[in-house]
Amino acid sequence: MTTRKVKTKQANVKVKTAEAKREELAANSQYRGNDSKIDDLQKNTEDSGGEFLTTNQGVRINDNQNSLKAGDRGPTLLEDFILREKITHFDHERIPERVVHARGSAAHGYFQVYESMAEYTKASFLQDPDVKTPVFVRFSTVAGSRGSSDLARDVRGFAVKFYTQEGNYDLVGNNMPVFFIQDAIKFPDLVHAVKPEPHNEIPQAASAHDTFWDFISNMPESMHMIMWAMSDRAIPRSLRMMEGFGVHTFRFVNQRGKARFVKFHWKPLLGVHSVVWDEAQKISGKDPDFHRRDLWEAIENGDFPEWEFGVQLVEEKDEHKFAFDLLDPTKIIPEEIVPVRRIGKLTLNRNPDNFFAETEQVAFHTGHIVPGIDFTNDPLLQGRLFSYLDTQLLRLGGPNFHEIPINRPIAPVHNNQRDGFMRQTINKGQSAHDPNSTRGGCPFQAGAEMAGFTSFAERIDAQKIRARSASFFDHFSQATLFYNSQTEPEQNHIIRALRFELGKVETPSIRERMLGLLTEVDKDLANQVAQGLGMSVPAKLDKPLNMSIPADGTPAKFQSKRVAQGIESSAALSMVENPNFPKDTIKTRKVAFLVADGFDDAAVADMKQALMTAGAAAMTVAPRLGVLTGADGEECKADFSFLTASSVLFDAVYVPGGDASATALKEQSDASSFVEEAYKHCKAIAASGAGVGLLARWLGEKFSESNTTGKLVADEQGVVTSRGPAGDNFTAAFINAIAQHRHWERELNPTG
Ligand code: HEM
Repeated sequence: MTTRKVKTKQANVKVKTAEAKREELAANSQYRGNDSKIDDLQKNTEDSGGEFLTTNQGVRINDNQNSLKAGDRGPTLLEDFILREKITHFDHERIPERVVHARGSAAHGYFQVYESMAEYTKASFLQDPDVKTPVFVRFSTVAGSRGSSDLARDVRGFAVKFYTQEGNYDLVGNNMPVFFIQDAIKFPDLVHAVKPEPHNEIPQAASAHDTFWDFISNMPESMHMIMWAMSDRAIPRSLRMMEGFGVHTFRFVNQRGKARFVKFHWKPLLGVHSVVWDEAQKISGKDPDFHRRDLWEAIENGDFPEWEFGVQLVEEKDEHKFAFDLLDPTKIIPEEIVPVRRIGKLTLNRNPDNFFAETEQVAFHTGHIVPGIDFTNDPLLQGRLFSYLDTQLLRLGGPNFHEIPINRPIAPVHNNQRDGFMRQTINKGQSAHDPNSTRGGCPFQAGAEMAGFTSFAERIDAQKIRARSASFFDHFSQATLFYNSQTEPEQNHIIRALRFELGKVETPSIRERMLGLLTEVDKDLANQVAQGLGMSVPAKLDKPLNMSIPADGTPAKFQSKRVAQGIESSAALSMVENPNFPKDTIKTRKVAFLVADGFDDAAVADMKQALMTAGAAAMTVAPRLGVLTGADGEECKADFSFLTASSVLFDAVYVPGGDASATALKEQSDASSFVEEAYKHCKAIAASGAGVGLLARWLGEKFSESNTTGKLVADEQGVVTSRGPAGDNFTAAFINAIAQHRHWERELNPTG
């Protein structure tokens, strides 16, 4: 083994070099990559299969049905230690939910870098393409409680814990690249405003209420984030189909100590897709666990979610060359200005064994970094560095939460920290201080060349001052850039979202202030929102726009000042026209087949086969559960009845032929509303044979003539029909229509 002599305060002692340490770890099965964390968790994993029931002290229990009583009708005895232990444990099963991001779902997986990033960072997990670094990833909504719906209009948390060989690295990001506020001191205000109102605890998991919009209407810096939050990004189709962002600017530092600024991105390989707001609200009723179930099932089915890890790198010397401040978390670096370089891949391949032990107890912290990664002075990030450790002391009950299996690093932990509630480690030895001679100076500090963490030595020469840099005062240019980058249907969705949200606001002055702010983003946007609210955009507001100023501040000094951003629009901000995500796959999409007895056996079999080959899932929805028989005698199990399924839970719908099936479905109002709703939500719809007549009946005027009179196979705005036998052209056209995700051209009266 490679060792080198290092001078410690006490003596020359042989310690391992970082390289030797890595070699040793690689040889050790504990560091096989992805399995290392599995092996580690195994130590605390139990499965009672084939075992006797016991108390927590290991005493076998004979009767788990009856408590100990004085006579079979008598009072229960205090002596019953089995009853008392069981009930006491139950009484203490809950811990506080997270103050934000309480609702979440998580999975295990691994990360692999494509090629060494040594030129930019010395982070060990970004060096070797052969190394698989285990990860645990938790997705979340922000505002709702632990039991709230997955489909709330909200930001999604995207927190990744990398169990690297040099310690845990947490990238605690969101699915939107900016944030509402510029300074951490405003975070409690933001969260108090968006959470249910304190007097009546209404509404749950929703921003559509007075206190949120009151806060926002007084915080012009939030307008860029508001554009994202009102866009369809806030209602993802799947956690597997959303981008992730580190939001803040961080630093990469290489072995030579050279630093560069870096922004982190996660790019989903399934593309970026959302549902529509009406659909989101219905899913919240039909299946509030929609995203959790989707993630769980995808992993159980072996459809492992994948994201590419992207970085935008900026040289230190270029810090001030942008139209915005890199330290301002309400700004992006447009991808057209600094391209995103994809440097590795994240794969989620294992569901947790236990929700509480893993998903609930996992503790992320922006302050968990490793050598090669460092912070910047972003004032929001700086506040977060305090908040996460602090909140976990309360939520997880003390300073030893790093010992909880899901939080425990696979890198060894040695220090002089001791004791506290629920301490697991049995630290041997006489002393717990440093410097010491009683333990020969152990544990030693590690030099930088031995992967000892050193902070980037940023030069700072400043006055101590409570102030915000003037470079943070352009609150609207990037909000406008975002709005301008959306396609017409996407803009319409933003308008409708604002009409919905502000429509739920009861205080007129809040609506007025919001219209005033929206005017600064885009006049037409403000006018359209105002129209939906039955108001007009106020010519002048009573109060200055920005109330978020210090007591002695002058409003004029705090007014937003526009700075030209260098680009008018960025395609990477649109989901419809995003060049990063070509709409060429239907992998893991769910297609409902509406069938009854007498369905067209061949058409169903062909379509199922074609969809499955393309990676999608076909599920039958029928008037009843049980086994259905096709016209040619083929049997097929109904996966759902119209009572247990709903159009909003599927990506597309197919109505095959078969005269008897069509006749049975014709009178089913559940079947017609299934298709009407799929149409309204702009989803791909297909029909063949007698199914075409059903579509014509159900869709009425919306059904295009060319679907009945034109070519044999027709595709009109994602309504794909085949009047003859359902052949390859038909299945291919349907698959292409599903891959487009939605057919927005159908929204005839989009802003109505
Ligand atoms: C000053 C601003 C912020 C503060 C004080 C703050 C504070 C918190 C707190 C207290 C939690 C609960 C943690 C726990 O109980 O384990 C949390 C969770 C979280 N925060 Fe923040 N946050 C801030 C801004 C942000 C920003 C800008 C992002 C995104 C870049 C973000 C992403 C997250 C995520 C993803 C979680 C959930 C982590 C998990 O899944 O356990 N937060 N935050």
